[in-house]
Amino acid sequence: METLAILGSHGFLGPHLVAAAVRRTPHRVVAVARTKDPVPVFHEEPGRVEAIEVDLTDRIERTLDVLRPRRVVLSAALSRVADCEREPERAQAVNADLPLAVARWCSTNEAHLVYLSTDLVFGGRLPRQARFQEDDPPAPLHVYGRTKAQGEANVLATWSRALVVRLPLLFGDSGGRGLGASDAILETLRAGRQPRLFEDEWRTPIDAENAAAAVMELEELLVNGFVHVAGPQRLSRYEFGLEVLRARGVDEEDARAALAKSWRAEAGLADQRPADVSLDSTRARGWLRTELLAPRVALLPRGEA
Ligand SMILES: NC(=O)c1ccc[n+]([C@@H]2O[C@H](COP(=O)([O-])OP(=O)(O)OC[C@H]3O[C@@H](n4cnc5c(N)ncnc54)[C@H](OP(=O)(O)O)[C@@H]3O)[C@@H](O)[C@H]2O)c1
Repeated sequence: METLAILGSHGFLGPHLVAAAVRRTPHRVVAVARTKDPVPVFHEEPGRVEAIEVDLTDRIERTLDVLRPRRVVLSAALSRVADCEREPERAQAVNADLPLAVARWCSTNEAHLVYLSTDLVFGGRLPRQARFQEDDPPAPLHVYGRTKAQGEANVLATWSRALVVRLPLLFGDSGGRGLGASDAILETLRAGRQPRLFEDEWRTPIDAENAAAAVMELEELLVNGFVHVAGPQRLSRYEFGLEVLRARGVDEEDARAALAKSWRAEAGLADQRPADVSLDSTRARGWLRTELLAPRVALLPRGEA
């Protein structure tokens, strides 16, 4: 049986990737995380998954030599923009050097590699068309975007059969951890505070479970190069917040009262935060059977979609 290794399985997306792998593939699934912290399980076959804990920046080659995966999905990242600004060397190690080491191992051992990247490799320049396409050149505005763009380039320069999947703002079920765009808003409201959401920051958000299903389907197709996997709707963060509350049955007036509008310049962040990194997913839609869902549909409680 082939081994599929999911590297970085404890983050927001990781448990959804593990669940999609268990549901979709017959392979041995190994979930590799740095810490032993408990994470939500979004599938019904816990016996299918082997979990190991290792700091991948220290021991990547040894880990892969022991696991001998035929398929690798690299989700590990230093993914918070502020953490990357504070710790640029760690960002470089996790977001750029680790992908290089993984790509070298996969190239030597002919293992298929999917590297997860981000819409935030864009932002310093306008897209050539309405949304960013795969061949638009990266123009990152901060350490996170720069190191992820370097990670992408490292992967594709090292292993021609690798796939780089750029993801947009992710939302959805974080298993009560307050992670991701929608749970963060709900957590702030539960704490009795008013979420402040930018009206001038545009994204093409996608549900993490939906994104994970698409990533695992692309993994099975063994395609390579760049692909964008994003939601079909371009929304401001404020509009996205309204969608989160509407999906929970909050009426329009209450939803608008619950959220505060904000603007990047007002927050002093206009130079640091990309205004619009909307992704065009035409290529992915041509390859996938998994439908990329609008937030309005994906946010509905289970059974109502
Ligand atoms: N969330 C989003 O909105 C979003 C948007 C676009 C793209 N992405 C990309 O999608 C991927 C998954 O994102 P996410 O939101 O799930 O990120 P996340 O919640 O920050 O999870 C990243 C995971 O990487 C692990 N990791 C970091 N350094 C490691 C190391 N040295 N060894 C082993 N594991 C390590 C972390 O483990 P510890 O917690 O133990 O440190 C964490 O579990 C990332 O590549 C990210 O760049 C995410």
